[in-house]
Amino acid sequence: MAAFIPEEKVAEVREKVDIVEVINDYVQLKKQGKHYLGLCPFHGENTPSFSVSPERQLYHCFGCGAGGNAISFLMEHDGLTFVEAIQSLAAKTNVDLPELEDQYPGEREQHQSKKEAHQMAAKFYHHLLMNTEQGKEAYDYLTARGISEEIIEEFQLGYAPERNDMLVQLLEKREYDLEEMEEAGLILRQESTWQRYDRFRGRVMFPIHNQRGQAVAFGGRALGEGKPKYLNSPETPIFLKHETLYAFPKARQAIRKQDEAVLFEGYMDVIAAWKAGVKNGVAGLGTAFSKRQAEQIRKATDKAVIAYDGDNAGRAAAWKTGDTLVNQGVDVRVALFPEQMDPDDFIQARGPEAFRKQLAERAVPFMSFKVQELRENKNLQNEGDRLAYIEEVLRETSVISSAVEREFYMKQLAEEFDLSMDALREEERKVQKEDQKEKAARAPSASEAGKRWRSGALPKKQVSMRSAYENAERTLLAFMLQNREIAEEVKERIGGEFNIDAHTALAAYLYAYYDDEHEPDVSRFMEYVEEQELINLVSELAHLDIPTEISDNEMSDYVEQIKIRPKREELLQRQKQLKDAERSRDSEAAQKLGARIMELMMQLKKN
Ligand code: UTP
Ligand code: MN
Repeated sequence: MAAFIPEEKVAEVREKVDIVEVINDYVQLKKQGKHYLGLCPFHGENTPSFSVSPERQLYHCFGCGAGGNAISFLMEHDGLTFVEAIQSLAAKTNVDLPELEDQYPGEREQHQSKKEAHQMAAKFYHHLLMNTEQGKEAYDYLTARGISEEIIEEFQLGYAPERNDMLVQLLEKREYDLEEMEEAGLILRQESTWQRYDRFRGRVMFPIHNQRGQAVAFGGRALGEGKPKYLNSPETPIFLKHETLYAFPKARQAIRKQDEAVLFEGYMDVIAAWKAGVKNGVAGLGTAFSKRQAEQIRKATDKAVIAYDGDNAGRAAAWKTGDTLVNQGVDVRVALFPEQMDPDDFIQARGPEAFRKQLAERAVPFMSFKVQELRENKNLQNEGDRLAYIEEVLRETSVISSAVEREFYMKQLAEEFDLSMDALREEERKVQKEDQKEKAARAPSASEAGKRWRSGALPKKQVSMRSAYENAERTLLAFMLQNREIAEEVKERIGGEFNIDAHTALAAYLYAYYDDEHEPDVSRFMEYVEEQELINLVSELAHLDIPTEISDNEMSDYVEQIKIRPKREELLQRQKQLKDAERSRDSEAAQKLGARIMELMMQLKKN
């Protein structure tokens, strides 16, 4: 590694960091005995099988096998290098690190230059907005929309001037590969002349960041009535729209803290809301809200308020987004804004306080919103409309798993139309029957699973189909992880003769680790191990519930199980070979095999 952090600094960071705090920024964790449980951020799941141990400073997912310590979590989850992970944790734990030298270009991560170029372009556009004559019109535009300098700084807003090739020239000067920059979506090429030119011209620029907070794309708004109103970066290797949420890295902490996210339609809404003190807001990217985006929200919280535009399109989108979130186990409310206003308009018109109130108190449960929507454009005086309405409401409410909630909406219907509950229940059964045919083909509802999680149900126990020798090896390795003496004894008695390659490799690391005079410390040991697969194994073994001591008898049992097994296998194999040799009258081979078989049988008998 080119960049180097002194070992004592790494040790200090490791000492001070708390893995629960680190992971809590990404995953909603619930205390469960000695551990914390949450939804694994490394694979999609609806029941939590991701466990964090504060005692051992480790995490492990029983679903996908991911595991490690705080450092490897950041490396895996955010794609950081070891050095970057230490830097990030040092900042969190207030450890001062010495200046680092740059890494060699060859070691730079994939697509690094695309990201760097975005970072640079963001700075460039920001500079043009703040400090130049060219940026004045855009600056005035933002001011007129109530955006202060402080907010411009906070969101790194910028301006891309009308000129054709400002960014092309800058990129060229900094020796970026222009073809790669085209691939990154920053510049374009004219078909006829092959001239390169800037994608964004004459627009207010909104940098868009990935989960790690790196600029990877832009949204550019026309000043005034230009078309399109917003021009966004295209999908690129560093910018996957359905996996990205505008302002998510900024909002994540507030989302976690308030245990609620607010979803907006537009960049300007997020920014206006921030200004109004609502800092847990994010937005999609002009594309339909995706399952992946819902999963990201779900990892941070299980509650969301949808604050889309009050117009027809906004309400239709709110319905779809709500369904997507509910399917991930998120509890959804909908805040509506009157007279076709969007949240930004509302803040301008009524002020921050009214806005916060609208979100906190006026947002209605998702189902109420749906009921309200179903009523739209219906004349309930008309019997046909009325029946259609009742049926549609029941169709929506009948899938609610909470009986209390279901009753609530049914009572509303009963009162409103002066119907008996029995009649409604009858109608509900009819609707359900109709739906069942359709649903039979569909997968079971994920919201069910989400509910189980909220009620604190434990993850499913993994079914163990391991053989005796495999379990023996795992148990011994688990002991070795926490006890140097045991490791030394195993080294003497078994050495490298584990039957499973991964176990042999892990044992070799452990022997070396203790030989280097390290103390037992699973988290520390993980950094010693290089292969992620083995790190996962370590975290899994460290989560095994084993006592701290092992008796001599137990030790001998394990050792024997481990040693006997290969001998048995060899014995079977040799016996088969002997038969073959006898059949082909190869007496020399038969003699050798016979001797070996005797030997093996003696050894097995002795054990
Ligand atoms: P809106 O049209 O609601 O814009 O689009 P807005 O957020 O209210 O913007 P202002 O207040 O007029 O400046 C909402 C979102 O849809 C995407 C953008 O992500 C925008 O933030 N969009 C909209 C586009 O991608 N392209 C467009 O032409 C318009
Ligand atoms: Mn707007």
